[in-house]
Amino acid sequence: MNHLWRAIKLLFPLKKWLALYMVCAILLAAVSSAPLGLGNVLLYNLQQSVGQPNATAGSETADEHMPQHKIKAGKDAISKWANEYAATWFGTGSSLVYGLCICILVCLVIKGILDFLVSYLQNYIAMRLQMDATVRVMRHALTLDIGFFDNEKMADLGIRIYGDTTTLRTTAKVTLDMLEKPPYILFLLCLAVYLNWQLFLLGAVGIPIIVLPFLAFTRKLYKNTRKAIHTSIDMAQAGGQVLGGMRMVRAYNAVDAESENFAKLANRFTRFVMNKVVLRAIQRPLTEILLSLGAIAVMIVGSNQVLNHEMDLSSFLTFVATLGMLTSPVRGLLNTLGDIVEFVPSAERTFEILDHKPKIVEKPNAVACPALAKEISFENVTLDYGRGPIFRNLSFTVKKGERIGIVGRTGVGKSSLIYLLLRFYEPVEGALKIDGVDIRDTTFSSLRAQMALVSPDTFLFHTTIEENIRYGKPGASLDAVMEAAKAAAIHDEIMSFPEGYQTVTGPGGATLSSGQRQRVAVARAILRDAPILLLDEATSAMDTASEARVQAALDRLSVGRTSIVIAHRLSTVKNADRIVVFAEKGGIEAIAPHNELLTLSPTYKKLWDRLAGRGDDASTDELSVA
Ligand SMILES: Nc1ncnc2c1ncn2[C@@H]1O[C@H](COP(=O)(O)OP(=O)(O)O)[C@@H](O)[C@H]1O
Ligand SMILES: [Mg+2]
Repeated sequence: MNHLWRAIKLLFPLKKWLALYMVCAILLAAVSSAPLGLGNVLLYNLQQSVGQPNATAGSETADEHMPQHKIKAGKDAISKWANEYAATWFGTGSSLVYGLCICILVCLVIKGILDFLVSYLQNYIAMRLQMDATVRVMRHALTLDIGFFDNEKMADLGIRIYGDTTTLRTTAKVTLDMLEKPPYILFLLCLAVYLNWQLFLLGAVGIPIIVLPFLAFTRKLYKNTRKAIHTSIDMAQAGGQVLGGMRMVRAYNAVDAESENFAKLANRFTRFVMNKVVLRAIQRPLTEILLSLGAIAVMIVGSNQVLNHEMDLSSFLTFVATLGMLTSPVRGLLNTLGDIVEFVPSAERTFEILDHKPKIVEKPNAVACPALAKEISFENVTLDYGRGPIFRNLSFTVKKGERIGIVGRTGVGKSSLIYLLLRFYEPVEGALKIDGVDIRDTTFSSLRAQMALVSPDTFLFHTTIEENIRYGKPGASLDAVMEAAKAAAIHDEIMSFPEGYQTVTGPGGATLSSGQRQRVAVARAILRDAPILLLDEATSAMDTASEARVQAALDRLSVGRTSIVIAHRLSTVKNADRIVVFAEKGGIEAIAPHNELLTLSPTYKKLWDRLAGRGDDASTDELSVA
């Protein structure tokens, strides 16, 4: 219920629109009935003009205090007033006919306009509600810790951002539609109470009885809706995974298994959705039956009252008609309540993500990170992703302008060092400092603006190559983009594509080879022109020739910059100012230039000997450090 209230609160910023909607809806209700009234006046006058007696002016013999007669008297008074009013405005005879017809026409036009406005506002409010929520969730997701995305299903997030908020829109629409009903219900209720309040109470006895099974259904409906949502997420996830991993699926002959798996999920989804349908379908006739019970009680008691002359027949008939008219909006109201119940799980999921607070946040008094002038230092850094420390008490410094290589077996935590520096994760102990300022005290943008990252899983956006490179420096000119591409040894290849820089790279860059993807990523980093270069196996997927060219470009680029280079091949870092060697078992074994490491670090020596043992040219050797 809490979530429902929060969902309603989302409407608050739209309260002006909501008020406008209500005004239009009420006006529409009024204008809709106006032509009928005007028509009535017209007919009444026509009847009088042609000299026929007024049907309502018959003799009245029944008890004047019977409600039916009171209503008749009231109606007569109103029509008398309306007729007199019409006469003063339009005169009599044909001028009255024209006048009234024009009025009817005007009413119909106004009704048309209001119809449009009501429908427009209803959809606009619902749409705004959804989009405001979607944007809020997306904005929030963009601030969540990187670690959050390591463990979340992407399909789930996608559905939270768009699917669950769509439910918000549809529910808002039916609810707005329903908002028109209460005045109508209230009017009918007053009429029923006025006609015969004892009978009304009798008829309403059924309503609390309806509420009980409704509440019981509500829980079941809610649970089933939740299950249906989760199954739909599993389906989206499974579908996305299979489509994304199509090459593996085919290569490992998993086509049948995957389609079987998907069909199973689809069956589960069908089951939950049908459960929902059954629950709602049972709820409807059940409501009807319970409402009918009240109506039957009214019939019995009312008929007896008529037979005993306690009530006249016409009052009774009007009462029964009023009750009958009440059932439709009441049923509609209950239906909307069902829709709202189905909406609650979606609302929960939306608020769950909004309530998820990132742990790595900017401090309120965060300062701009100083432009690197002296050194980057890792001080007693211990990193733990939650499954035990990756490294403990790691300390080293990188001087400004220095080129630092990092070598070590896979999984030892080389990439993690870079992620710590970008503040994707935070150390459990120790600190990373830039010129003595703890990076936790700096703003994200000032910290990250100093760095250009090339990661081994080069991610390309599903857009043109030009835009992918420009991501490094938004607003850069095409010439600058091309310069960067030339430096990354990818320009000629791009130009050989029929659409050149306008070639769309496909989701994740699927239409490029991994070597090309990596060079686009390098171009992006080159364009960024940042003082700190973070190169994580930046040339791992390239062929020897491109690697040599890109390496040369990166070497040129790193002049006057500070770079941390994680080596995929020893040759990449041989010329680094200093090399950080991770021991096999983890932790730093030695930090020194290549020549000294040969004597200082057994791990490095072993790697180098293996390289030498192959007798290859060290500068282009492909021996992996791992
Ligand atoms: N997001 C993560 N969540 C949990 N464990 C992780 C995560 N990223 C990396 N690890 C673990 O941390 C260790 C170091 O990873 P990484 O820094 O990528 O190593 P390297 O780059 O040296 O190959 C690995 O054992 C890996 O399993
Ligand atoms: Mg790595």
